[in-house]
This record gives sequence, C-alpha cells and structure tokens, in this order.
Amino acid sequence: MPVNKHIPFSRPLLLGTEEVSIRQALSNGVFSGNGPFALCCERQMESVTGAFRVLLTPSCTHALELSALLCGLEPGDEVILPSFAFSSTANAFVSLGAVPVFVDVRASDMNIDPEKLEEVLSPRTKAVVALHYGGMACEMEALISFAERHGLYLIEDAAQALGASYGGKPLGSFGQVAAISFHETKNVHCGEGGALLINKPDWIEPALAMRDKGTNRHDFLAGKVEAYEWTSRGSSYLCPELSAAFLHAQLQQLDKITVRRRTLWALYERELKPLEEAGCVQLPEPIAQSRHNGHLFFLRCSSEAERAKLSAHLRERGISAYFHYTPLHLSPAGKRYGRCAGKLPVTERESRCLLRLPLYFELTEEEILRISRSVKAFYFS
Ligand SMILES: Cc1ncc(COP(=O)(O)O)c(C=O)c1O
Repeated sequence: MPVNKHIPFSRPLLLGTEEVSIRQALSNGVFSGNGPFALCCERQMESVTGAFRVLLTPSCTHALELSALLCGLEPGDEVILPSFAFSSTANAFVSLGAVPVFVDVRASDMNIDPEKLEEVLSPRTKAVVALHYGGMACEMEALISFAERHGLYLIEDAAQALGASYGGKPLGSFGQVAAISFHETKNVHCGEGGALLINKPDWIEPALAMRDKGTNRHDFLAGKVEAYEWTSRGSSYLCPELSAAFLHAQLQQLDKITVRRRTLWALYERELKPLEEAGCVQLPEPIAQSRHNGHLFFLRCSSEAERAKLSAHLRERGISAYFHYTPLHLSPAGKRYGRCAGKLPVTERESRCLLRLPLYFELTEEEILRISRSVKAFYFS
C-alpha cells in the first residue's frame, strides 16, 4: 500500500528568486537598515496597502511596540483588544505600563465583537486594536465609529492580513497605524520581519526617530542637521538589508501568492461545506464587504475532546493540524497585566474547538482533497 506523504501544517515560502536579490544586496555592500532593498520594499508596501508611509521593522512585534510608543501611552492607560490574540498584541502596550482590556470575539470569524466595546470603556481608554484574524477583516465601520466617538486611537494588528481588504480598501489603511508580519509563517516573509504602516502624516517624523534608537539620524542622513542626537523614546527597530532583499523578491509576487492561497481556501470551503451543513463543524465566515487573503483556514469542532480526536485522526494519516491561541485573559501574563470584565464565553468556548488546517502556497489541490476526505471520514464513517 503506498504511504501518503506527510502534509506539514505550514511550509515557509521559497520562490527561488530570493537568492538573486540577496546576491544583489551582497554586492551593494549595505547591510544595516534603510538600504536600497528596504526602501524599495517600503515604497512597494505603500502602493499595495495605500498606507501613507511604511517603515520596515525586524518583526510585527516591533511594529506594534512602535505603535504603542506613537500613541504616547502612559502607565495605567488602557487599550481594548480581543483576548483571542497573540502575546505581542498585548505585550506592546504592557511594556509601556498600559493595561490591555480584553473583550470577546464573534464566533463567525473570531474577530473582536464591536457590540462588546462600550461596556469596557473607561476614562483611561486610549486605543482599540483591530486584529484581523487569519487575514479576515474586522467590522471596520463599527470599530472606526467607536474609536471616533470616544476619541481613541485605532491600531490594526494586520500581522496576518497583507493583501486583504474591507469595502475595497486594503487592511492596514484604516487605523492611525497598523502592524504587518513577515514571519516565515506568513503569506510573504523574510524569516523574521515586519512593517509599520502609518496613516497619520504627523506621526512619520516621530516614528522615524523612534525606529532609529530615538534619534534624528534620518535628518542627519538627509543632510538636514550636522550631527544627530537623542530626540525621543525609541529602540533599534530597523530591518536589516539582507532580510529586506529576501522580502523584496517575495513582495514582487504578492498578487500571485494571494490568488493561489484564496483558491486553496475556497477549495477547503467547498469540500467541507457538507460537514457544516450536516451540523458537524463550523467554518469561518468572513464578513460580506471584505476580501480575505487566504492566510489560514480553520474549522470549529463541537468540543475540545472532539478536536483532540480529530487532530489525532489527521496525525495518523500524516496530516498536521494545529490550534491556538490560549486566550490572553486566561494566560499567566494576561491575568497579571490585563483587565477583563467577567467571562468571555465565545473566546473561551471557541478557542478550545478551533483547529487550523494546512495552508501554504505549495499545497496542492490533491492534498486539500486528501485532507478534506480525511476530515469527512472522521465524521461520516
Ligand atoms: C495576530 C498577530 N500579531 C502579532 C504577531 C507577531 O508577529 P511577529 O512574529 O512578526 O513579531 C503575530 C505572529 O504570528 C500574530 O499572529
């Protein structure tokens, strides 16, 4: 009997063109931040996202930290975010002494529930975070209206959302700032990397200084001042040139990559729909006015025990499927640093039932059919 090839959960994208860019970067002889490839990626990202200005960073985590600095958060200020999130989404604010205030998500897309925002508002609330889970847009109209009504900053955690849109507008272009990840698990990557998208023009200058050790070195390099000096808070948040060269090669192919991933996502949806119709699982439901980027496909089982059995069933058939996140409000650091008004029932229930299926550029249609058959066999046999 032929042995089925193992299907990993994720496989970092390698197009083959990265080597050419890296060789070019080596011959350029610039290795620190702000090199020719980094600047080129930033202009490319501006044209793709419509953001006013893009700054490459060493990771999305760093871009989120810059966002927190730009909001001028002080100890005790509060930032509203979904509990179903990554540690960095909260840590960026905690590192300034601010308090993450956790709210529930909606089961349909695991994104922040706009109906739950008013009840956690306090005089210390300064910002709200729109995390676009799996590259599926949050209800931006509701979030923008909430932020404007209460004079709050809107920060997009668009770590997974490059290439996705809401109402025809790219994600990352709605908040005053947004953070994107180029970690190797993302649609396009450079191993570790990220970008800060700035949509508030008067934050460009402070962001440039904060990214470069809190100095006005960018003015010095532009010949505007004779020497650079310490001007603000900040850290070392520039993206190295070799990473930018790798990223440049992948960004060139962003459209092709996004189209491919959306096709694979749609195939999962088509194949697994009968399971949803039979009441066995629930599939993601991106909101109507949005376009996701095929970053991840998940299903929700009816219980944690069922998920464990399904994931073991898939593992026995050579298929890796993973779950995440442990809700932040139930995590040790979330309890220590965060605030949460009561229980978050959707987050607590759904995070125990959610299973992510393999999805990456090189995954084949045949492999999706094999995975879907295996999931169906679990329920229907
Ligand atoms: C929602 C979200 N925010 C932030 C991050 C952090 O990204 P990075 O690894 O680039 O720092 C991730 C990483 O996967 C993420 O999924």
